[in-house]
Amino acid sequence: MTQHAADTSRPVLAAADTQAAGEPRGWWRDAVIYQVYPRSFADANGDGMGDLPGIRSRLPYLRDLGVDAVWLSPFYASPQADAGYDVADYRAVDPMFGTLLDADALIREAHELGLRIIVDLVPNHSSDQHEWFQRALREGPGSPLRDRYHFRPGLGADGELPPNDWESIFGGPAWTRTANPDGTPGEWYLHLFAPEQPDFNWDSRAVADEFRSILRFWLDMGVDGFRVDVAHGLVKAPGLPDLGAHNQLHLLGNDVMPFFDQDGVHEIYRAWRQILDEYPGERIAVAEAWTPTVERTANYVRPDEMHQAFNFQYLSTYWDAVELRAVIDSSLAAMRPVGAPTTWVLSNHDVTRHATRFANPPGGTQLRTAGDRELGLRRARAASLLMLALPGSAYVYQGEELGLPDVTDLADEVRQDPSFFRASGQDGYRDGCRVPIPWSGTEAPYGFGPAQGGPSWLPQPAEWAGLSVAAQTGDPTSTLELYRSALTIRRGHPDLGAGSAVEWLDAPEGVLAFRRGAFRCLVNTTGETVEFDTPGRLLVSSAVDAVPGRLAPDSAGWWAV
Ligand code: NOJ
Repeated sequence: MTQHAADTSRPVLAAADTQAAGEPRGWWRDAVIYQVYPRSFADANGDGMGDLPGIRSRLPYLRDLGVDAVWLSPFYASPQADAGYDVADYRAVDPMFGTLLDADALIREAHELGLRIIVDLVPNHSSDQHEWFQRALREGPGSPLRDRYHFRPGLGADGELPPNDWESIFGGPAWTRTANPDGTPGEWYLHLFAPEQPDFNWDSRAVADEFRSILRFWLDMGVDGFRVDVAHGLVKAPGLPDLGAHNQLHLLGNDVMPFFDQDGVHEIYRAWRQILDEYPGERIAVAEAWTPTVERTANYVRPDEMHQAFNFQYLSTYWDAVELRAVIDSSLAAMRPVGAPTTWVLSNHDVTRHATRFANPPGGTQLRTAGDRELGLRRARAASLLMLALPGSAYVYQGEELGLPDVTDLADEVRQDPSFFRASGQDGYRDGCRVPIPWSGTEAPYGFGPAQGGPSWLPQPAEWAGLSVAAQTGDPTSTLELYRSALTIRRGHPDLGAGSAVEWLDAPEGVLAFRRGAFRCLVNTTGETVEFDTPGRLLVSSAVDAVPGRLAPDSAGWWAV
């Protein structure tokens, strides 16, 4: 999609087989990509779990919202030990979500509506129920199938100690001991996440071949790209050396670890890029790569690797003008030398929603306190306008356009996030951002499923009736209408969208002000009203009752000069 054309209508995408007529190359450079979490988006068959037909039925909503592409979290055959990020068969749809025919219909219909489809690829690990892993277990030590994972004998006199000191991201050791086919204690296998998610050995040619084939399978189905899960994790340091430190989770993001961000991963992505480029229609790859710095993230989007990488440094930045300006500058500067677009993201299925993060004092991305909801919503609306004004591509997580808060008071009994259970309840509150979307009505599941009073896999709060799509539609003060307006303006304004720079303007403390051509964005991160010279015609404001010349506390506005 381009927002540089005066005509903002969307071309039909010819099943992504050809570049749509008249469309410039590089659709992804300024795309707004909407993340659908299939379990929680829309439930067509009423079993309490979202599904592909449900998503399909809501595609017109996404088109009208004004996004360019939809990223679907995994819907593949999976025992759901980690909500689908434990894949048992990469070429099958889990019956809980539908069938391959449903996936095909969803892709086709999205293209007819001018929406692109990006699917999730999970190459770091499979499910322990994957056929290869099951065979590796059955066949015992020495089986060639064991080379496709990281099996090792244990340390200690009887092999009773794990092969090294690595800890799982979800808590506890990163190794689990197996039993030999005769029932005696056997080798250990590596799992950086849950024990049900054994890590692949990417030194195995069979693994590399298999994933190239999986890429082609979905590209042949017509998908427009892949979001690559744990893209920084595939290659481990030779010899799997000890880290020599405990509480490793807290080192993540600051240090290069022997299991993350190893230089060898880049060769894999270069091979994948060649495959993507064989297909017409600019198919893309997006890295989920948690690296110590934005400069390391840029390595994943060199011209012959992936197209985009999530900007987690931005997501992790609090509502503070100095910090925001610094991360915006460093993100743009890091991407410039490699020519990749910067991306911006505030929420996803792994972190506390930004409406709740900003309702609390700075405290990371796994919160269990609701905080000051009104303040959080005010800041969230302003933060979204800031994000959508920046050059590059933006990611919107389902429900943020409704201003949804995290559900912080889910009972422990209903939680399903494996990181909650493995981390002794200290960390891992990801269920709070995964509660099903309210679409309409006054009674749960608020149109998520077909029947009033029907099930939803996580309970929705009573007050979500007032936050539903139906309740917000047509209300000019609603967050949904704010997103709709901002996305329409973004698509139509010649100075918004792609690019690699903002020009900062002088502004009082706590205020961000920048120019992009004839466009101005002002953001007040303080709790006080700020007076300023109106820079032109107001396009949109996050403040419900914007007054000319005054920037309300925790608000943002866009102006055309
Ligand atoms: C990142 C995914 O976003 C998260 O949900 C998952 O638990 C881990 N990768 C493991 O696949």
